[in-house]
Amino acid sequence: MKKEIVICLGSSCFSRGNKQTVQLIKDYIKAHQLEDKVFFHGNHCYENCENGPIITVDGKEYQNVSPENVIYLLENLFGKD
Ligand code: FES
Repeated sequence: MKKEIVICLGSSCFSRGNKQTVQLIKDYIKAHQLEDKVFFHGNHCYENCENGPIITVDGKEYQNVSPENVIYLLENLFGKD
């Protein structure tokens, strides 16, 4: 089954890091050839802006995601090479 990764593209999360994080996740999926394993898409505001930027993975919410820590999160999800 594919993992579903959803990134908040509401204006607060978007302007505080998810703008870059979207691209980092896309690049990671491509670099690790995870296209068949991941359904990655955006969503509107989760009404939890103060704990953002927000990403969810299979319904589990990750808070305070940043372009710096998202790679660590992805490595935990998919394992390192
Ligand atoms: S903009 Fe992401 S939770 Fe509101």
